[in-house]
Amino acid sequence: QNAVGVDFAQRLTENPTTAERRAAILEDPGFGNYFTDHTAVIDWSIDAEGRGGWHQARIEPYGPIAMDPAAAVLHYGQEIFEGLKAYRHADGSVWTFRAEANAHRFNRSAKRLALPELPPELFVESLRQLVSVDKEWVPSGEGEALYLRPFMIATEAFLGVRPAREVSYRVIASPAGNYFGGALKPVSIWLSEHFARAGHGGTGEAKCGGNYAASLAAQLEAEANGCKQVLFLDPFNDNAVEELGGMNIFFVFTDGRLVTPALNGNILHGVTRDSVLQLAADRGLTVEERKITIDEWRASVADGTLAEVFACGTAAVITPIGELKTADGSLVSPDAGPESVAMSIREQLLGIQTGTVEDLHGWLTRL
Ligand code: COI
Repeated sequence: QNAVGVDFAQRLTENPTTAERRAAILEDPGFGNYFTDHTAVIDWSIDAEGRGGWHQARIEPYGPIAMDPAAAVLHYGQEIFEGLKAYRHADGSVWTFRAEANAHRFNRSAKRLALPELPPELFVESLRQLVSVDKEWVPSGEGEALYLRPFMIATEAFLGVRPAREVSYRVIASPAGNYFGGALKPVSIWLSEHFARAGHGGTGEAKCGGNYAASLAAQLEAEANGCKQVLFLDPFNDNAVEELGGMNIFFVFTDGRLVTPALNGNILHGVTRDSVLQLAADRGLTVEERKITIDEWRASVADGTLAEVFACGTAAVITPIGELKTADGSLVSPDAGPESVAMSIREQLLGIQTGTVEDLHGWLTRL
């Protein structure tokens, strides 16, 4: 890839949000409701010699994107995204967590969606540039952070089905508290029996908008049944548990084993998932990435060997799952007290991210 003019020399900054308004927002940001004053942008196109290159890295005021109605993203969904957070430490400095892992996953997604790869240094620099103009927006409350949403869209106006020759990379930022709103509490999830999230050889492990669009009809069913998330199985693989609409899933057994579905091409390579596996192994828990079927889940509830179930993701952090509701009954998990594996790894993870627990794995980058 060429990378010309990608020094963010152009910074059009304005701060339309007053300090009072921002303070009111940061009181209770929820998730995904409010956006900061700026956006980072880098364009990509193919030149006359057929070489692709990144150019015109810039900071712009946050606002609508003007796009041709024939832009490929609007028709064929050629789009990928990432999610990571910036955390405020007690001394006021702002840090991000495992940004290189997100940059790497972004490029894997780019390959799958036939989009250009972005040099990881440029990915991290775009976060740094955006946070440098919007750092007042980084909250400091318990479990709060500035959620960063890098994404890449095919902007070329062309209706033939082929990879676009014009693409735009952007980052927006949104102050975030609990993904599910209010204080943290165990959530109920709904077992999707009519819809799958991913198919073998499909885009399941890519972080692309289409996977989330495909989860929405099932999410509606979940909400109609009083649940916050939907669980997808692989009906062509013994009803193996895959993931939730927007997060990975873990099981803790009474003998101390921590189990999560193995990455099989259908499952998102969660950065939080990977971090939980590492922190659990550090504590001497036996961690297993393997196939776990809905029948095993049912049997382990029946014989009392399942201790906890939890969801994890950048947005969800770690959220205990209290109950799996299905069309013919529900599987209840014991209450996740502060001593639970879920809550204690959550504490540790948030502690590393916010600088109160030592970062033994070198996961933090100062922005
Ligand atoms: C994240 O956890 O960052 C995601 O992208 C999931 C989405 C449901 C917010």
